[in-house]
Amino acid sequence: MENLLSVPIKDDIYFIGTNDRKTELFEGMWPLPKGVAYNSYLVKGEKNIIVDLVRANTTEAYVEKINEIIGEDEKIDYIVINHMEPDHSSSIKSILEIYPDAKLVTNKKAVAMLNNFYEIKDNILEVKNGETLELGNRKFTFHMTPMVHWPESMVTYEEATKALFSQDIFGGFGTLDGGIFDDQIEYDAYYLEETTRYFINIVGKYSSQALKALNNLGGLDIELICPVHGPIWRDNPKKIIDIYTSLANQETIDGCVVIYGSMYGNTETMAEAVARGLSQGGLKNIKVRDITKTPFSYLLSDIWRYKGVILGSCSYDNNLFPPMDYFLTEVSHQRMKNNYWGIFGSYSWSGGALKNLKKYMEEGKYDVLDTQLEIQGAATDEEIKKLIEFGEEMAAKILEK
Ligand code: FEO
Repeated sequence: MENLLSVPIKDDIYFIGTNDRKTELFEGMWPLPKGVAYNSYLVKGEKNIIVDLVRANTTEAYVEKINEIIGEDEKIDYIVINHMEPDHSSSIKSILEIYPDAKLVTNKKAVAMLNNFYEIKDNILEVKNGETLELGNRKFTFHMTPMVHWPESMVTYEEATKALFSQDIFGGFGTLDGGIFDDQIEYDAYYLEETTRYFINIVGKYSSQALKALNNLGGLDIELICPVHGPIWRDNPKKIIDIYTSLANQETIDGCVVIYGSMYGNTETMAEAVARGLSQGGLKNIKVRDITKTPFSYLLSDIWRYKGVILGSCSYDNNLFPPMDYFLTEVSHQRMKNNYWGIFGSYSWSGGALKNLKKYMEEGKYDVLDTQLEIQGAATDEEIKKLIEFGEEMAAKILEK
């Protein structure tokens, strides 16, 4: 049959992934303005092998693509499961209904999850780290990548094509709109930012494990990278390896994000003054973000990329402004290590903001500026001046070499 929806990649390996433009929040919390792709692959040969599945909500389109390649007379012999998160496994029951004899190939940790998530216990072939398996005329080697970003995560290398099926690693948000290969798209203009945000939101807190995995995979001769999200890398796989390595190292740029929480505008005015100071201090990459309007996804992404972070909050009933409090709980899970931090607070009638910002800074052992301003009510001209100087101080700290 003709390949109308599926896409041949190389030597009888086909792309059979799907796009999801309906889901608004990935994992129920990360916005998907450009949607997301669930990539899956069919390796055709003496044995027909699927590598990674798709999310259940796109199964119908998925099955059509499989049919296009193997028709109704052939069957799927094996399904390699590199990662069990439901965006890549929740179609499994539907697929096993169509191909009940398909054997699942995965690792010990995923075996337990198959039972827990889908009550699947049988017809599983368990593989170990570094193990090579001959499936028909194909040879696959499996490499465990624990905690990138789930404990059962692994990648699969196909010897003849030098293809790495890398699961979430090297992936990003964004549907594949026609072009699926790196040489068919404007990656920097369209996907780079969504890859950055994906990495920081999903993998960021496991960046040391990601670095370890990247080092381990460095020994492989890779010509093709087939991740489960985002484009397939056949022209320049080194590019995405470099991008991921830089992200995993949290390489920051000279810039600063000012994140503020304000009820009636006084703290916002303070944030504006701080931003003026950052600019007067010579900084060009400056973002001012309202915490009540900006999803955490983007705030975390800014912190990961910019060397400087300034947090400003109003006080609320003797405490930190609740959205800031909630956000800093998530920040504390991220283990960011390459930032300079600055804090200021509005006392309102009770205080509480600066006191609690300090507490977060101490608990996270962050590198925080000694200047920490607390302002009662609206800032006076004198206080605005101090806030501008505070911004200048942060700019100097960021730009000092
Ligand atoms: Fe794309 Fe961790 O699932």
